[in-house]
Amino acid sequence: MDPIAQVQTAGGSYPVLCGDDAPALLAQLWDARWRQAALIGDSNTLPRFGPALAAALAPRCGEVLQLAFPAGEAHKTRATKQQLEDCLLEAGFERGGCVVGVGGGIALDVAGFVASTLLRGVAHVNVATSLLAQVDAAIGGKTGVNTAQGKNLIGTFHQPRAVLIDCAALASLPAAELRNGLAEAVKHAVLADAPLFAALEAWADARVGDAPLPRPLLARCVQIKAEVVSRDEREQAFRQVLNFGHTVAHAIEAASAHAVAHGAAVAIGMVVEARVAERLCGFPVADRERLERLLATLGLPTAPPLPFAAVRELLGHDKKTRAGVVHCALPARLGQMHEAAGRWALPTPIELLAELWEPVR
Ligand SMILES: NC(=O)c1ccc[n+]([C@@H]2O[C@H](COP(=O)([O-])OP(=O)(O)OC[C@H]3O[C@@H](n4cnc5c(N)ncnc54)[C@H](O)[C@@H]3O)[C@@H](O)[C@H]2O)c1
Repeated sequence: MDPIAQVQTAGGSYPVLCGDDAPALLAQLWDARWRQAALIGDSNTLPRFGPALAAALAPRCGEVLQLAFPAGEAHKTRATKQQLEDCLLEAGFERGGCVVGVGGGIALDVAGFVASTLLRGVAHVNVATSLLAQVDAAIGGKTGVNTAQGKNLIGTFHQPRAVLIDCAALASLPAAELRNGLAEAVKHAVLADAPLFAALEAWADARVGDAPLPRPLLARCVQIKAEVVSRDEREQAFRQVLNFGHTVAHAIEAASAHAVAHGAAVAIGMVVEARVAERLCGFPVADRERLERLLATLGLPTAPPLPFAAVRELLGHDKKTRAGVVHCALPARLGQMHEAAGRWALPTPIELLAELWEPVR
């Protein structure tokens, strides 16, 4: 099967494959030198998808381990990573094995982090089962866990050997999780592709119920993520565009103790940061209105559920903060991010965020 995208990295390139039969795809791409497999997923995804993946791998490698941790951001922690590592070491997992992350962004971020430090780094493959992981988290090699200070503050860059997008898995994905994935799809359109944004608008207006994202639109989102990562693997500059909406989103997630899911928080974050973009870099009012309308049509929230005071401190813990100044990656117009002297995240006065937290009436 032809990949829908190829990610270029300093260490070589890897494919993103998309299909309805993830076990068969995994078996096909399996490197015969990987003598052990460790499938790592959360308590929803591993029981659901692990057995078929393990059965497909059994003829290809000597041993297939299956490890699950409790689902949810509260378990995306160093403690979970440590427990998984202890299990793998006790089971005699060796450097020549391959970790297979199975699940949404949380399972893949944790599995990738385990793979990146276990025995000083082992191979890993991502099997993405949530829409959010398929269009975003599975691609690009960012791994990590949360701490009390904020989201994803401990982690590594560790590129997978391949990414599998399990389209059939979406059949069991709860509708709210489907919507969370759509938030990142909208983000990709805003940052790189105005025609994709228009296509999402047309699809959102015409769709009935929680219909899944049509495959050509999903594929375009994957390609945008792959293109951005290939241009700037380690977020030296350009990759920061992927953080549109995320400065605010991460603070909302932490302040709500993860009651607001990542995708929903990104939707709210994009709306707040679009207001900032209007002020700081001329993002057209009409574009901001289209963004808000599309998110609302998709059933995503657009207003912060917390007062600004609840996030003020947390905004300063964002990874893009420099010299205590909060930075936001902001759009110049739909399909194009703002750049200033090679920088893709702008210093953003905290008082401006406070002022624009709620819509100006
Ligand atoms: N590494 C990156 O580049 C990157 C990018 C974006 C987001 N993220 C991270 O991803 C996380 C969010 O990912 P998410 O939205 O996928 O959340 P998630 O991993 O929690 O998955 C959402 C929920 O759906 C369940 N689930 C997943 N696939 C399923 C399926 N096919 N059927 C039934 N249930 C299924 C999961 O068990 C979970 O309960 C955040 O922690 C975020 O920080 C990482």
